[in-house]
Amino acid sequence: MDKAKVIKKLNDMMNLELSGALKYVHYSLFIFGVRRKPIIEFFREQATESIGHATKLGEKITALGGNPSVNITEDLKARKIVIEQLLKESMQIESKALSGYMNLLKDVEDDVVMDNFVREFIAEESEHLEDVEKMLRE
Ligand SMILES: [Fe+2]
Ligand SMILES: [Fe+2]
Repeated sequence: MDKAKVIKKLNDMMNLELSGALKYVHYSLFIFGVRRKPIIEFFREQATESIGHATKLGEKITALGGNPSVNITEDLKARKIVIEQLLKESMQIESKALSGYMNLLKDVEDDVVMDNFVREFIAEESEHLEDVEKMLRE
């Protein structure tokens, strides 16, 4: 395993998770109508999961001797919100995370612990993606 390369990728994923969390919190502030409660709950759950993932990644980075660095620039503007549009954006967040972890898996195959670590993320992101896909299904 190329440690430096893996640390860099873990750091990129940590930043991706943190920016996802910010987006989810922001989305959750614009939900109105009869579906308000469950959708808010869903977005805030995703935000919490993303913070949890980011924290795990940060801990792994320091365990490998790296320095986690946060570099997020999200310009989240107020806008007219259509719930379906937010869910589609949520799908993008989740599939980007999933492909990021898939990509990382190739670099850790020779390390049992890291391989297992990344596979857990892959399983969770797949579930998130399936959830959103079902929410968008008619
Ligand atoms: Fe995540
Ligand atoms: Fe996720």
